[in-house]
Amino acid sequence: MCGIVGIASKNNCIDNILSGLYSLEYRGYDSSGLATIKNNHFEYSKNIGKISNLQKSVKNNKLTGNVVIAHTRWATHGKPSIKNCHPFIKDNCVLVHNGIIENYTDLINYYSIKQKNIKSDTDTEIIAEIYNKLLNEFNNPIEAIKNLNKKIVGSFSFAFLVHGSKSIYVTRRGSPLVLGSGEGFNAVSSDVLGLPDNTKEIIFLEENDIAEVNDSSILIYDKNQIIKREKHKFIPKKEFKVKGNYKHFMEKEIFHQPISIEDTILNFADKKRKVVYLPKTNIKFNEFSNIIIVACGTAYHSCMVAKYWIEEMTDFNVSIDIASEYRYRKNKVNKNSFGIVVSQSGETMDTLKCLNKFKKNNIFTISIVNVLNSSIARLSDFILPTLAGPEIGVASTKAFTSQLSVLALFVLNLQQGSKNINKIFFNSIFSIHKSVKEILKKENEFKKIAKKLVDTKSIFYIGRGAMYPIALEGALKLKEITYKHCEGYAAGELKHGPLALIENNIPVIVLAPFDENYSKLLSNIQEVKARGGRIIMITDRDGAKKVKKYCDQIVIIPKTNFLTSPILYSIPVQLIAYYLAVFLGTDVDQPRNLAKSVTVE
Ligand code: M6R
Repeated sequence: MCGIVGIASKNNCIDNILSGLYSLEYRGYDSSGLATIKNNHFEYSKNIGKISNLQKSVKNNKLTGNVVIAHTRWATHGKPSIKNCHPFIKDNCVLVHNGIIENYTDLINYYSIKQKNIKSDTDTEIIAEIYNKLLNEFNNPIEAIKNLNKKIVGSFSFAFLVHGSKSIYVTRRGSPLVLGSGEGFNAVSSDVLGLPDNTKEIIFLEENDIAEVNDSSILIYDKNQIIKREKHKFIPKKEFKVKGNYKHFMEKEIFHQPISIEDTILNFADKKRKVVYLPKTNIKFNEFSNIIIVACGTAYHSCMVAKYWIEEMTDFNVSIDIASEYRYRKNKVNKNSFGIVVSQSGETMDTLKCLNKFKKNNIFTISIVNVLNSSIARLSDFILPTLAGPEIGVASTKAFTSQLSVLALFVLNLQQGSKNINKIFFNSIFSIHKSVKEILKKENEFKKIAKKLVDTKSIFYIGRGAMYPIALEGALKLKEITYKHCEGYAAGELKHGPLALIENNIPVIVLAPFDENYSKLLSNIQEVKARGGRIIMITDRDGAKKVKKYCDQIVIIPKTNFLTSPILYSIPVQLIAYYLAVFLGTDVDQPRNLAKSVTVE
């Protein structure tokens, strides 16, 4: 997919436009361009290759501008070249476009477009030509867009500059667009990442919305009238680097999750139409049959969850591996496979080496990364960013739930178009951030649990199904920052050995959504109880009804489903580890012996 950035500012905004394009470079970079309107005429720069080439052209042309639209291209119609590069400039308008216009040959006939006016191989130039005509006819940019949208079949997000106006006009269908506003400017982008760092609020445009964006106002229209859309807070990168009112970065990062999860989801999915939009690629995932996923540490736990999802919800074979193991094994990679690596930092050496191994085997590689200019991001064929924002605490929290969110969307995307699609899952993914907020409000209940763990020598987490990886994650988090011994187990495994460690008062934290595994889990709880273990239960309302009598402590969290429960149950395990570390007085953000980015073998 291509990337769009536009800014209408009281000042020259070329630098912000370029940095927006750099942030969107992961979406495609075979050519790029930008245009501005100055003294009522259009000026532009275009170049093929990376954004750095465009930056050189902009510098050579000494281009400045207050109202600018820009584009980074991933070719669909026509090869990468200057003539196919956006923006397309006509007498009355300039256009950048994401998406594909399916009926562009019909449109040429319908609007009697002269072939001699079309210089490129793109579907986009046809739209620029039509819009140019419609502006002459309607003499009103919004009416012209309304008319244009009625005739188009396909997916698009458009940003136009119009002769005689200092506004950017945008619209979308089937391809995302987000608006941002800040002091002295308003902006548009195909992706939150493309917005300037001093953006304050963002609005996700809905299907068929049209907006007029200038340096002081944003007006959004649906078919008939001006409408209001929900505003979200934008958090600039520098805010992530201070603790603010929090005692530790880890605490801040845990409490940031309602926002980081929602941002990550809305970046790839349309709430209204319940559709996932991944950046475009020439690969059709459904033509493959195998997926190999590798990562380390917490990121590996997200892969484990993904395996449960993929097996349950799609027909793919999926294998997962710890990167430090996969890279040295003699693995057979069949050509029907694509590979996914998951990494917060994008620099983890073992994960990077696995990516190299995928490449040597000539398989398509996807990276799910939080740091977009990292080595892993740069080397992979396709990037799915987690929008967690910089994560400072060594213990990964918000990056993990964003990894899970991206993987959940990826699985929903694999299902898209098939009959298996589960509407309940789709709906629940859009409200998960609200449930996370509710759990965070119960912080005192998790504090009470942590308080009672201060003097224990050993702690266990157990869960079944997709709760098993969360049990492992809970144990890792706890070990990492409290230095206490903690084990995560698939609950059914207890009787195969670890049960020998259960004695009077040993705490066993049970992750127990009321689902198809619940009754089996009850038996495991009784096995523990019978040996004197102390049961601490995290469950939902229905789950709580059945077990109160066995539990020493119980916290009820919102009811959820197979897709969203791993995201929700991650929050309690993070909070328990965090508060226990605070009670024990360890160095929460920089625990001993560890590093945030593991760039050694
Ligand atoms: O940057 P990465 O996601 O590749 O890092 C992988 C692990 O080192 C990391 O998840 C580690 O396990 C965390 N510190 C756990 O909280």
